[in-house]
Formats: sequence, C-alpha cells, structure tokens
Amino acid sequence: MLAMLLAVSTSAGVAAWAFQSTATGHAEEQAQSMPSAGEPNAADQIERGRYLVNLGGCNDCHTPGYFLGKPDPSRRLAGSDVGFEIPGTGIFVGSNLTPDRDTGLGNWTREDIMTAVQTGVRPDGRILAPIMPWRAFAELTKSDAGAIADYLISLPPISQKVPGPFGPDEKPNLLVMKVTAPDGSAEGG
Ligand code: HEC
Repeated sequence: MLAMLLAVSTSAGVAAWAFQSTATGHAEEQAQSMPSAGEPNAADQIERGRYLVNLGGCNDCHTPGYFLGKPDPSRRLAGSDVGFEIPGTGIFVGSNLTPDRDTGLGNWTREDIMTAVQTGVRPDGRILAPIMPWRAFAELTKSDAGAIADYLISLPPISQKVPGPFGPDEKPNLLVMKVTAPDGSAEGG
C-alpha cells in the first residue's frame, strides 16, 4: 500500500513538473496518458510482477541450469533440474511456472497462483514443501502477489514436466541438494 501511494504521488509529481516546464499541449497529453490513481494498467502490473519475480529469487529455484551456474534463458521459469531433499520428508523440485496446460500453471487461475505463493496451498490441497518460501511471501501485499501472478500468466507457455515430488524412500532421477546433519543422521522435516 505504501509502495502504491508512493508510486501515485511520484507520477503526480512528475505530471506537475512536466506541466510547468514544457509547452502546454504536450504536458496535458502526457498527464492524460498516465494510469489513474490506484489502477495500474496491465503493462505496469506485468512489469512490476517481473521485477518482483527477479527479486523474489523465483528464477533460482524454478529455472533449469540455475544451480549449475548456467541458467537456460530459453526455459526461464519452466522448472528446475535440481531437487531439494528435506530429510524424512522427501525431494521437491521447483516446478514449471509458465502457463503450459499440461506441465505448468496453464490450468490455474490467477487466484490459485496467489494462494499457492502466499499460503503454500495448491489447488489440489497439497501443502508445498517449506523450501518454497511461501511463508515469507505471505507478507507480500495482495497487489504485489497479484502482479506476480499476472506476470507468470503473461509468460510464453513452455512444455517441461519436472520430476517428483519423491517420497523419503524413493530414488530421484535428478541432481539433489541435500540438508545433512554433522553426524550424517539428519532427521527433520
Ligand atoms: C528456494 C527455492 C524457491 C524459491 C526462491 C521459489 N520457489 Fe516456488 N517452489 C519451490 C519448490 C521446490 C517448489 C515445489 C514444492 C513442492 O512440490 O512441494 C515450488 C513450488 C511453487 C509453486 C507451486 C507450483 C506447483 O505446480 O505446485 C508456485 C506457484 C511457486 N513455487 C511460485 C514461486 C514464485 C512466484 C516464486 C518467487 C516469488 C518462487 N516460487 C520462489 C522452490 C522455490
């Protein structure tokens, strides 16, 4: 909310400045083309979502190659190739966040995405593993969570199914990052 107020007062400030310092007609045109207060236009909303996704580390865990030092730009956010093992719980892989219907979020609504990001609950009721930082994202404003969802929905759909999740006794077929205890007997979850 504060960010929104700041953004609104900034654009109003810019408009006032433009009006004073340039020839009349042009400044009025500029002021009119700005989104009205409290209603960011769709392009602004998607750009804000892109900014928050970069900042939120979503690329790290949801883009193949990222943990190997060479993220694949052609499959950005289409799912990781490295799983996270949580001792005693299983192995979880950052999923495909592009709107592909079969392997990504194509069948999720905007609200489904916001709910998963902020409460960890998938549409099928499964709670996402805590390596997905939804407890931190719970503090996002509704407007920011919505911007993230709008950005994800705007991505080109990429078909790529991530493996898993694997149970604690299942054998994974991908690289895994693991939490271990000093004596090697970690049991957590
Ligand atoms: C530290 C790694 C990490 C970060 C950072 C991260 N995620 Fe995730 N995310 C995961 C993992 C792992 C899963 C799968 C968890 C599971 O299956 O229980 C997941 C699952 C999800 C899901 C559920 C998708 C599905 O098909 O079930 C969504 C939506 C999601 N993440 C969105 C995001 C967004 C948006 C961001 C950034 C704002 C983000 N994630 C940042 C690791 C991460």
